[in-house]
Amino acid sequence: MEDNPHPVLTDANGQLADRRSLEPLMRSVLASVPDAMIVINQHGQMLAFSAAAERLFGYKAKDVAGQNVSILMAGADEAHHDQYISNYLSTGEKQIIGIGRIVTAKLADGTTIPVELKIGEAEIDGHRLFTGYIRDMSEQQANALRLSQMQVELANFSRLSAVGTMASAMAHELNQPLTAVANYLEAARDMLDNADADTLAYIQEALDAAANQSIRAGQIVRRLRDYVSRGELDMRPVNLRDVVEDATSLAKVGFEGQLARVIVQVPENFPNVLADRLQLRQVIVNLVRNAIEALSDTATPQIWITAETRNGLAHIVVEDNGPGIPGADGSSPFDAFNSTKPGGMGLGLSICQTIMDAHGTKIEYAASPRGGAAFKFSLRLDQGPSGDE
Ligand SMILES: Nc1ncnc2c1ncn2[C@@H]1O[C@H](COP(=O)(O)OP(=O)(O)O)[C@@H](O)[C@H]1O
Ligand SMILES: [Mg+2]
Repeated sequence: MEDNPHPVLTDANGQLADRRSLEPLMRSVLASVPDAMIVINQHGQMLAFSAAAERLFGYKAKDVAGQNVSILMAGADEAHHDQYISNYLSTGEKQIIGIGRIVTAKLADGTTIPVELKIGEAEIDGHRLFTGYIRDMSEQQANALRLSQMQVELANFSRLSAVGTMASAMAHELNQPLTAVANYLEAARDMLDNADADTLAYIQEALDAAANQSIRAGQIVRRLRDYVSRGELDMRPVNLRDVVEDATSLAKVGFEGQLARVIVQVPENFPNVLADRLQLRQVIVNLVRNAIEALSDTATPQIWITAETRNGLAHIVVEDNGPGIPGADGSSPFDAFNSTKPGGMGLGLSICQTIMDAHGTKIEYAASPRGGAAFKFSLRLDQGPSGDE
């Protein structure tokens, strides 16, 4: 025990533990260590298998004792694990010991899951032992995957919405001049009727074509506008809490570090609302992102997302304790291309309004009693299964 660099163990009475008193201690460690823990020898045989490992892998410790640890692995690791150990023993090169990495584990029922594996080593009486700590990472990986999928969806959707809103504004602007061009061209053609024939025939033809083209351009723009404002809604019963949760995690993307506290007050068993899930999520993302941006100079930045049912409707409010929008009320902040931010497009709120219009409801601004901005909208509640979808 003199020069033992390892932590010293004592028994329950505080006496330096001997072999016999160590055993119950080891058992209690194996029973209670929160991560799956497995001890193997230099041949890869399992010597200890903690209770958490039993739960994770679905094996009983007594059934795997003495077996090669590679039964818990998949693919190349399963085939080459013995090789890994002997390479390490002969070269001393640490590939994984003390480092930790994500590997694939194979459970008793054959399922494979991502796990984080950390390995420590020890030498006892000339025997090399390796202790592995294994943590189930499937949930983290699934979350990361989900987040990155949502980011892609968000990027696509906000590009689409921005294009849509711009097209809608463009359509409005372009329609009038295009109609005027068509009128002027037709008048010019009529006046040319009395001029001399030869060269004028050609001009007449050209002007005709021009008129047709400009009318056509007008139709295209109008069609684009119809498409944008009608929008294809996928109305379904939607769990508001889920949408709010997705939206807030999406809204925070890119703001790491300067985050406001988001307080979600949607009751646990809130009835489903009828909405297009992705579009509703987009509205909340836009509102929360605006709030986060508005809160950049606020000492204790907070955002509340509240929902309650009243008169058969779900009333949703997104509010913050930022500076609010001085002088604004009702629908005034929703005009497109209206931004106070350097590089802001001023489309977020107008997109929210377009989406709520399409849902047959509207979104309004009010000064929040909490000091900042409050954006409110209502949605119909799902009346439950009606039989006729
Ligand atoms: N929660 C808020 N608090 C204060 N001002 C806000 C808030 N939300 C929106 N605004 C104001 O409304 C403007 C328009 O918002 P938006 O349409 O999303 O465009 P953008 O975010 O690109 O500026 C913002 O520039 C900001 O001045
Ligand atoms: Mg915005």
